[in-house]
Amino acid sequence: MEITGQELDILLEKIVKETGYDFSQYRHGTIKRRIFKRLLATGVVDFQAYLGFLDEYPEEYRRLIKELTIKVSCFFRNPYVFELLNKIVLPDILRRKEMERGPAIRVWSAGCAYGEEAYSIAMLLVEYLKGKKKELSDYFISIFATDIDNDALTRAKLALYEDEALYEVKKLYLDRYFVHNGRYSVSDEIKDLVVFCQHDLTSTRQIAPPVGVVHSYDLILCRNVLIYFSLPLQRRVMFNLLRSLNPGGFLVLGEAESVLKEVEPLLTLVDARARIYQKNGDVDENTY
Ligand SMILES: C[S@@+](CC[C@H](N)C(=O)[O-])C[C@H]1O[C@@H](n2cnc3c(N)ncnc32)[C@H](O)[C@@H]1O
Repeated sequence: MEITGQELDILLEKIVKETGYDFSQYRHGTIKRRIFKRLLATGVVDFQAYLGFLDEYPEEYRRLIKELTIKVSCFFRNPYVFELLNKIVLPDILRRKEMERGPAIRVWSAGCAYGEEAYSIAMLLVEYLKGKKKELSDYFISIFATDIDNDALTRAKLALYEDEALYEVKKLYLDRYFVHNGRYSVSDEIKDLVVFCQHDLTSTRQIAPPVGVVHSYDLILCRNVLIYFSLPLQRRVMFNLLRSLNPGGFLVLGEAESVLKEVEPLLTLVDARARIYQKNGDVDENTY
């Protein structure tokens, strides 16, 4: 069973109409493969039948969206990235904050899946501050974690995980920041630092989470999300992320993605493998 371009358009329009989510600028090859999985799972005979299935069982939209928005993640995914966050990024952010009174540290985990990345960065930050003998209460720490999928956010807030999600977690973190009761859960100290909220990165109305102040992140992580977008969409989203960063703030794309050519002049490369960039201080916001 092949899904044609025309059939894909019909389904994507139907999804926008019913859910408000627009996947038209996601990479079509990936999207088609994911839709195909739903066709098989529902047992329909062909694509037309799947459209009818959606009409008859509208709850299928939620499953379809879950399938289209891949959730693979884990705590401290790509440990090398976290090593650099610890060695270079956090010290730089904290150094700048020393000048401020009542310093705020603002982090955004964009496309957070079940919260693994946001909680990992919260743990790293708490551990870093404790190591420097700093009082957490001297800082206003806000870690915003957003995803397009509300069901994922509900799970993220629960903060309950299977062993596989903790594969990269060091013993020290496991002992200090997790509670084990059959399954692992994140300690309240860490949970309290993270605010989850629904946000569609491709939205043309909002460039950043509605709960945050738009232009003021010190650190944005957007890893393993942009790979699913077409190049024009990646470009729009990347510029939005840049607009939301403080001058001198860090953008972490992780090991699977890199910035587009037109964005490069606005950033300084911090590490090529981890794809960590720092926003230049002299960027004129009106030029992009
Ligand atoms: C593979 S996970 C990446 C999770 C985490 N960032 C990591 O690297 O481990 C991709 C996440 O991006 C989310 N996502 C996909 N499209 C999105 C969009 N338009 N806006 C916000 N999140 C989106 C998916 O729901 C999914 O949770």
